[in-house]
Amino acid sequence: MRFPLSLLGASLLTLKTSANPVDHVDADIISLPKRATPQAPNGYTPTEVDCPSDRPTVRVASGLSNQETEWLQRRRNNTVQPLRDLLGRLTINGFDTNSYIDNNQNNATALPNIAIAFSGGGYRATLNGAGVLSAMDSRTDNSTSSGHIGGLLQASTYIAGLSGGSWLVGSIYANNFTSVQNIVNTNPTFSGSLWQFQDSILQGPDQGGIQILNTADYWSNLHDSVDGKASAGFNTSITDYWARALSFQLVNATDGGPAYTWSSIADDLDFRDANAPMPIIVADERDPGAKIISSNTTVYEFNPWEMGSFDPTLYAFAPIKYAGSRFNGGQIADGARCVRGFDNAAYIMGTSSSLFNQFLLQLDGTSAPQFIKDALSSILSEIGNDENDIADWTPNPFFGFNEGTNPNAQSERLTLVDGGEDFQNIPLNPLIQPQRAVDVIFAVDSSADTSNWPNGTALVATYERSLNETIENGTAFPAIPDQNTFVNLGLNSRPTFFGCDADNTTGDAPLIVYIPNSPFVFDSNVSTITLDYTIDARNAMIQNGYLTATRGNSTQDSEWPQCVACAIMSRSWHKSGAQVPDTCNTCFQRYCWDGTLDQRPVTYNPDNVFAKISAGPPVANPRSSMLAGAVAIAVTVLTLF
Ligand SMILES: *[C@@H]1O[C@H](CO)[C@@H](O)[C@H](O)[C@H]1NC(C)=O
Ligand SMILES: *[C@@H]1O[C@H](CO)[C@@H](O)[C@H](O)[C@H]1NC(C)=O
Ligand SMILES: *[C@@H]1O[C@H](CO)[C@@H](O)[C@H](O)[C@H]1NC(C)=O
Ligand SMILES: *[C@@H]1O[C@H](CO)[C@@H](O)[C@H](O)[C@H]1NC(C)=O
Ligand SMILES: *[C@@H]1O[C@H](CO)[C@@H](O)[C@H](O)[C@H]1NC(C)=O
Ligand SMILES: *[C@@H]1O[C@H](CO)[C@@H](O)[C@H](O)[C@H]1NC(C)=O
Ligand SMILES: *[C@@H]1O[C@H](CO)[C@@H](O)[C@H](O)[C@H]1NC(C)=O
Ligand SMILES: *[C@@H]1O[C@H](CO)[C@@H](O)[C@H](O)[C@H]1NC(C)=O
Ligand SMILES: *[C@@H]1O[C@H](CO)[C@@H](O)[C@H](O)[C@H]1NC(C)=O
Ligand SMILES: *[C@@H]1O[C@H](CO)[C@@H](O)[C@H](O)[C@H]1NC(C)=O
Ligand SMILES: *[C@@H]1O[C@H](CO)[C@@H](O)[C@H](O)[C@H]1NC(C)=O
Ligand SMILES: *[C@@H]1O[C@H](CO)[C@@H](O)[C@H](O)[C@H]1NC(C)=O
Repeated sequence: MRFPLSLLGASLLTLKTSANPVDHVDADIISLPKRATPQAPNGYTPTEVDCPSDRPTVRVASGLSNQETEWLQRRRNNTVQPLRDLLGRLTINGFDTNSYIDNNQNNATALPNIAIAFSGGGYRATLNGAGVLSAMDSRTDNSTSSGHIGGLLQASTYIAGLSGGSWLVGSIYANNFTSVQNIVNTNPTFSGSLWQFQDSILQGPDQGGIQILNTADYWSNLHDSVDGKASAGFNTSITDYWARALSFQLVNATDGGPAYTWSSIADDLDFRDANAPMPIIVADERDPGAKIISSNTTVYEFNPWEMGSFDPTLYAFAPIKYAGSRFNGGQIADGARCVRGFDNAAYIMGTSSSLFNQFLLQLDGTSAPQFIKDALSSILSEIGNDENDIADWTPNPFFGFNEGTNPNAQSERLTLVDGGEDFQNIPLNPLIQPQRAVDVIFAVDSSADTSNWPNGTALVATYERSLNETIENGTAFPAIPDQNTFVNLGLNSRPTFFGCDADNTTGDAPLIVYIPNSPFVFDSNVSTITLDYTIDARNAMIQNGYLTATRGNSTQDSEWPQCVACAIMSRSWHKSGAQVPDTCNTCFQRYCWDGTLDQRPVTYNPDNVFAKISAGPPVANPRSSMLAGAVAIAVTVLTLF
């Protein structure tokens, strides 16, 4: 027996034993001012409020938002000094970075515009990405010493995350742009409970510090907050439970910060002053009922001001702070009220990682025992049949908007899924928009393509999409070879640059610095569905990611930091017609894919570069995996409540 999720509020007996979560939220507002803040008026429940006098509207995606344009001017200026510091440390022999910056500091567009992108792949992607991010972060101990690349984060303009990568980016921004090192070093007993991945989301966090719930209270807390949203008349789905459960791991506030909104990032003074890059999270549109989505599906982005897409289909953006309001033709009817609090920060991370349907499609490939497979498959197909394995963004903010091209303009329902379901598992789409004029993208790939290692599939997908004149809509991407070539030439076993020759791309494509997950001190190809990591394994993953980004602290190539600097500078030199220093040409010979193909069939089994850390492998046992987590949530939702 099961109930439609949207009826939960009316019909179900509850396990209500904890205090009303709203009480905790009020306490948060007073005591925990953060970069992302608990701005929602009523916790997780979206709530009607008076519209501002300047009523929110949907806009055509013909350019960047005014807010982003204005913010960019400050951000580009604020990257000048970090860039000067970074290039100074990385040192390009034969190139005077100081006088280059001096000559161009009044014209930030002549300086490199840097973006970083973190792929999906569950906690594997979160942790490998975290290692790479900490290597790029000047706040990490020793990251700015010789042989390291710290400060790249501070010199960047954009940072994008998808699915497991969105948990990384979202968690950093939901916690006052904290650092990975800070999260790892924080003792959960005394304060937050971030990234305690040894605690299954089935059981909830350990009690202690700011977390006060035992397992039963945890489940009833999840239930109550989703119930509140449903009772307020909003369509809920399994993604709401998923998001609330994840938030206990990702948002450092009591009960996972049910009132923390994504749009609150835009209101934070530090972000407004452009002291950090702009975070973007990616999801895909999928029609209810569809199982496989095509590469021409609409790619959505969530930034601190807006949600929407530059794709020619939707080609529109809505103010994210007012998601949940009833827009029609881009307007909220006169007299109608606005809705606030729909854009819960964890709901956006949950949306980007809604991949229940993919679990269903991949179940047969897993090593789970048959009885588990049977049980899961029946539950997941029920969810699938009920079209509830999506993130429900009803009411569709784009209802009646761009009716000529928007295939979903006539639907009051908007349903989004995991951003990797179209195989573009690295969130590159927002970063290759010509209006953003990004010069170089550090593309961190933690995909599970072959034995849970990446083999270039994500880049191939974005490249192929860029060749379709209907869907690319002005974007350009460097040429990318097939996956066999990736493996045969080792393009996935160490960083590789794509698009080094700016004259050999179909448009103004950025240079891609591809950083694939590969083993240095740990078998970091942990299954996507693994939900339990011991603290040692978590830290080993992060350390491995650090070594991936630094080429083993430059032990594998003492010129690696210099080559990173060359990649950063490449497009700027091209624009100004400057000569490329010889040492950079040497780097490009070493790291640029030169167009060679080797398409022979191949398998990939890399060895660790250094001695392995003994942390014990994280085990994807059937009872404590991401898959089991999704299913437990499903079972709980469908039967218990
Ligand atoms: C947030 O970070 C900024 C910049 O590091 C710092 O000045 C501020 O005190 C932090 N706020 C909180 C509440 O930790
Ligand atoms: C950015 O820097 C330039 C050159 O120093 C200056 O003219 C401009 O006003 C600055 N813009 C902002 C928004 O600070
Ligand atoms: C700024 O730099 C860009 C890129 O090099 C160039 O196209 C533009 O003309 C420069 N603007 C000014 C005012 O120098
Ligand atoms: C690499 O550098 C990091 C940061 O300084 C350090 O923690 C780590 O031990 C180093 N690893 C190796 C293998 O040198
Ligand atoms: C940083 O470098 C110092 C000096 O080499 C070393 O003692 C320290 O352990 C390093 N810290 C980390 C976190 O690797
Ligand atoms: C989590 O919040 C607590 C309490 O505000 C704070 O002491 C701790 O530093 C935070 N942890 C991180 C990683 O920001
Ligand atoms: C969404 O919620 C509304 C109001 O609760 C309800 O009338 C509608 O049937 C729901 N739609 C779906 C697809 O669940
Ligand atoms: C290109 O995209 C369009 C629209 O999205 C689609 O109909 C068409 O089949 C695609 N073409 C190719 C060659 O894939
Ligand atoms: C996407 O492409 C498929 C064929 O490849 C086509 O049937 C479908 O209509 C296209 N969708 C859109 C939104 O263009
Ligand atoms: C992008 O798509 C929109 C809507 O379909 C269209 O109006 C616009 O001209 C396209 N832009 C480019 C550069 O093709
Ligand atoms: C690459 O990964 C895809 C799955 O993403 C897989 O189908 C393909 O066989 C892999 N190819 C190689 C050469 O590893
Ligand atoms: C140069 O462009 C051609 C045509 O797009 C492509 O086939 C080739 O792989 C490109 N070469 C490199 C090195 O990217």
